[in-house]
Amino acid sequence: TFVVGEDCINCKHTDCVEVCPVDCFYEGPNFLVIHPDECIDCALCEPECPIDAIFSEDELPEDQQVFLELNAELAEVWPCITEMKDAMPDAEEWKGKPNKLALLER
Ligand code: SF4
Ligand code: F3S
Repeated sequence: TFVVGEDCINCKHTDCVEVCPVDCFYEGPNFLVIHPDECIDCALCEPECPIDAIFSEDELPEDQQVFLELNAELAEVWPCITEMKDAMPDAEEWKGKPNKLALLER
């Protein structure tokens, strides 16, 4: 599966959702996730993210392993998103900021 990582929090550019052939992105207030049981590993979304927030499971950084479980958990409760929309208003400001996990809204 592919996994949305920490950099997406408070940025949420949503370019990724447009290319997914199986519509397996799910959206929360300031982050979105991939449903691990629905993702077919096509890898199309990874290069679409302008801030490189998406990883294949195998390449997910050690300090972001918690996002595996978070993607699985939140994909069960958040609504599906298939169309791109505006990024979060302060996306540029939040780009690459560390320790954003604490800011995740559910
Ligand atoms: Fe969708 Fe393919 Fe990305 Fe999986 S790897 S979330 S199937 S675009
Ligand atoms: Fe997030 Fe990148 Fe998609 S910032 S919403 S993973 S395009």
